[in-house]
Amino acid sequence: PTVMLVASEYEGLVKTGGLADVARALPAALKAAGVNVKVLVPYYRKLFDRNPEVLLSSLNVPVNLNDEYGCAVRYINDHGVDVYLLEHHRFYDRDGIYDDGRWPYDDNPLRFALLSKAAFALCKALNFRPDILHAHDWQTALVPYYLKRHFENDAFFHATKSVFNVHNGAYQGKCNAQWLAPIGIDGRDFIAEHFEDYGDINLMKGAIVFADQVIAVSPGYRDELMQESTSHGLWQTFQAHAHKVTGILNGCDYGLWNPENDTAIAATYSADDLNGKALCKQTLQQQSGLHVTADRPLFGLVSRLTDQKGLHYLIPALHDFLAQPIQLVVLGSGDPHFANQLRHLAATHPGQVHFTEGYSEDLSHQIEAGADFFLMPSLFEPCGLNQIYSMRYGTLPIVRNTGGLRDTVVPLAADHHNIDLATGIGFDSPNIEATRMALGQALRLYSLHPEMYKQVQQNAMAQRFEWESAAQDYINTFKHLMVH
Ligand code: ADP
Ligand code: GLC
Repeated sequence: PTVMLVASEYEGLVKTGGLADVARALPAALKAAGVNVKVLVPYYRKLFDRNPEVLLSSLNVPVNLNDEYGCAVRYINDHGVDVYLLEHHRFYDRDGIYDDGRWPYDDNPLRFALLSKAAFALCKALNFRPDILHAHDWQTALVPYYLKRHFENDAFFHATKSVFNVHNGAYQGKCNAQWLAPIGIDGRDFIAEHFEDYGDINLMKGAIVFADQVIAVSPGYRDELMQESTSHGLWQTFQAHAHKVTGILNGCDYGLWNPENDTAIAATYSADDLNGKALCKQTLQQQSGLHVTADRPLFGLVSRLTDQKGLHYLIPALHDFLAQPIQLVVLGSGDPHFANQLRHLAATHPGQVHFTEGYSEDLSHQIEAGADFFLMPSLFEPCGLNQIYSMRYGTLPIVRNTGGLRDTVVPLAADHHNIDLATGIGFDSPNIEATRMALGQALRLYSLHPEMYKQVQQNAMAQRFEWESAAQDYINTFKHLMVH
């Protein structure tokens, strides 16, 4: 198949979360499997100093019936994958990606409608006939709609099918109905069965309706999207289109996440020789200003600070738990409310807790390598990548049993009967008490049953979630669409 993938993030260029990891790793894996794949992302200000080659000095993109936007297209070859950067200064020459640090940009619907529509113009300009247009999350949710409504009579795309990936169903791209005309949505599609959502436009809803295929980033999350309480309000739409909604678990880019050759960590190590991991822990303790000791379990957390990540029950649970002989290292940015609470936790526990507010790829690797446990108690988690990285680094994930976390981590039973299979610690209820119990279980495992801790660590390190096999599932889906 030929595939044009459109996304708002791409690892190595611009990233706010796991979407970026997927937008880069999936095309790489597709390419390796012989798929002719190209990627389109915006040319944000933070990419300007790279000064990539200008490939097309003018690309006109008619987003609606009246307005055409003049763009340019730059080009990067990323290990064999063609990556096109959409240049339009009015929309992308800004410090932020989605927001100014506090509030989302007012014109986000139009900024990302342009990206979505540009995918079509680019395909034509390159004379690249895609079998599949592959869109991701609310930012590119208009791609399926444009294919069905703006290009239904265009021979160039007559064989093209659209695939829409749900990485995070909580961000739906809801916006005021005044955007209908500017982003090219016909009034007849502003109905509850299509885009309308309590008087607003809901872009993700429209994507579920108009896409030929919808893919959630784990089978578990796919099932959650069908249920009222876990669908972020979209269950009726997901249920109405259930026949075309599937789940494919993300893979892990083990080229970037491998303790055997990771250049960001103090010492490399493998499942057979964990000496390097002890050194990573020591170094992390030192650089974080924690007491350097081998016998206290070190808990790590790397996260966007948002409600999704379960911080409103994790932080109170940690308050009590810090009376125990444990240590905590946190890296995160986002909601100032959570940042304040974490800052307070660090200030009141010197030598025991360290919080870095911000974004740092190196530190995220150092925490994965240096910690004994990795905290991922998410309220919901479509897939989750950090628990997968953690397992590879022999850092036991502590997860809430939800979505992709449930699909990837085997929680150790209280009576340890599944010690041969377990790869982490799990709990069910999104509340302080259940979190506290899980933290307690982790501490006991580490201090009272070191042999069992090691067994679970070995099990975790042996897990593989390869992109190669995920890509095969995508290819099968694409091929199925192409013949139907
Ligand atoms: P989500 O996409 O919901 O944030 P994932 O677990 O899928 O969750 O992916 C998160 C990705 O973003 C991981 O690669 C993680 O290491 C990275 N990440 C999140 N916050 C930070 C941060 N503050 N610094 C560095 N990397 C971060
Ligand atoms: C989203 C989800 C996360 C998932 C990532 C990549 O950001 O929150 O769970 O791993 O997308 O699909």
